[in-house]
Amino acid sequence: MTPPTGAAGTLESPHTAGTDSPEATGELVRLSPRDAARVLTQLLLPTAAKGPIMRRPTPMKLSERHGWDRHALDLMAELRQRYGDGPVMLNTTARPIALLLTPGDMHRVLGETPDPFTPDTLEKRRALGKFQPHGSLISRGGERRARRRVNEKALQMPRAMHSAAPDVVRRTAEESSATVDRALRHGVLGWDDFGEMWWRAVRRIVLGEAAADDTGLTERLNTLRSAANWSLLRGRQRARRDEFLLRVHRYAFAAEPGTIAHALHEPGLGRPEADPVGQIPHWLFAYEPAGMVTFRALALLAGHPEQAARAVAEAGEAGDPATPRPLPYLRACVRESTRLWHTTPMILRETTEPTRWTGGTMPAGTLVVTYSPWFQRGEFATPHQDSFAPEQWLSGDAEENPALVPFSDGPGRCPGENLVLLTASSWLAGMLAHTDWKVISRPAPRAGEAVPALLDHFTLYLTPRPRAGAG
Ligand code: HEM
Repeated sequence: MTPPTGAAGTLESPHTAGTDSPEATGELVRLSPRDAARVLTQLLLPTAAKGPIMRRPTPMKLSERHGWDRHALDLMAELRQRYGDGPVMLNTTARPIALLLTPGDMHRVLGETPDPFTPDTLEKRRALGKFQPHGSLISRGGERRARRRVNEKALQMPRAMHSAAPDVVRRTAEESSATVDRALRHGVLGWDDFGEMWWRAVRRIVLGEAAADDTGLTERLNTLRSAANWSLLRGRQRARRDEFLLRVHRYAFAAEPGTIAHALHEPGLGRPEADPVGQIPHWLFAYEPAGMVTFRALALLAGHPEQAARAVAEAGEAGDPATPRPLPYLRACVRESTRLWHTTPMILRETTEPTRWTGGTMPAGTLVVTYSPWFQRGEFATPHQDSFAPEQWLSGDAEENPALVPFSDGPGRCPGENLVLLTASSWLAGMLAHTDWKVISRPAPRAGEAVPALLDHFTLYLTPRPRAGAG
């Protein structure tokens, strides 16, 4: 994907960019104190309140009800209009923060990861360190290279079908079918039931059958994730963390073929600095947002009959939902759900040295913020900003649009993307094959209406109806 030409901060190339430009040695544009306060209170704090590592139900509800996300998008549009292409600086007492305003600048930062834009920021280190102290995102230098490589290899990043796909799909089909049965019995499906079944599938997919019913493992992880939400404030939870990691190690060493953990047994991945098993907590943690995305995709389809018809047709093709299938339309629906409600609303980087931009120099130690919803749903996402348009992922239009990167881009791009798409599309196929769904909570995404800026998965409810004639 190529950045658009004309994005102010990227007219010139990295580190040394703009050496001849008179402005390049000056300071970047700084937000007025009033605007800086608005960014803090209308964008950064609400995003943090919702829970960057583990979503919190009350702020999610408040955000949905009071339109916090829409206000943040409006604020970004206003800043872009008044300050130009940025990046713009907020000078806080703690340390400088830069806010990116154009896809060109976002691609520069993602493309020049990890140097000089390291993903290992102070905030992430404190947060993720509570349950994945050796995660690749919070590592630097040779350790980051080795750990990133382990992730790319074990998750088989470029492959649409992981070599474990037959087992991933079988497990997914079994759990999604059990979810439909439960919904039919209860007459309704909410996040509590969906999440419980999704987590069971995740434990089986990642760690194997022995972990299927180990809800305690998920609870331990979630306790650590809740603590991670308070990254800068709460202590390390070391005893809890060690106990959780020990359990993960036990499962990983015993993992059977057909699990993702077993992919770590591949020779050559075990270099000491790589800590292959130490990457698993990130996989478990990141699979939960994948569940949110899948649940919301179901809600989108429930309110969009035209798209649902295509999805149902694909789900019903070739019969057996337990056989790996490409499911391109359902994958596109999952991507679209991720675009509309981004699960990593703030992609953070920290500058390891001063970097030059057309507008001036950004000091070392700056926290660089990509507010993803602005790129996925703001003016750069036209023509589908607020509509459900899975077809844009099939026509190539979305790939052509540099603003649309729900799985990030560059050397820090999500290595789990294909595995997520495989799992989520198979899950949806199972849920749609014989059942129609209707959203009974509000807001309900509906064809012809703007897709809500946030869909709180905690208070989302759907009712199932067996489809007449479906076998
Ligand atoms: C809908 C689900 C998911 C989305 C939208 C997503 C998106 C992302 C994004 C935006 C990043 C970059 C974060 C940053 O730079 O701070 C990332 C990183 C990462 N993701 Fe995902 N992810 C998802 C699920 C998963 C899953 C299920 C796995 C593993 C099974 C996974 C593995 C990773 C890893 C290991 C990294 C760190 C990469 C690095 O250190 O360079 N992700 N993901």
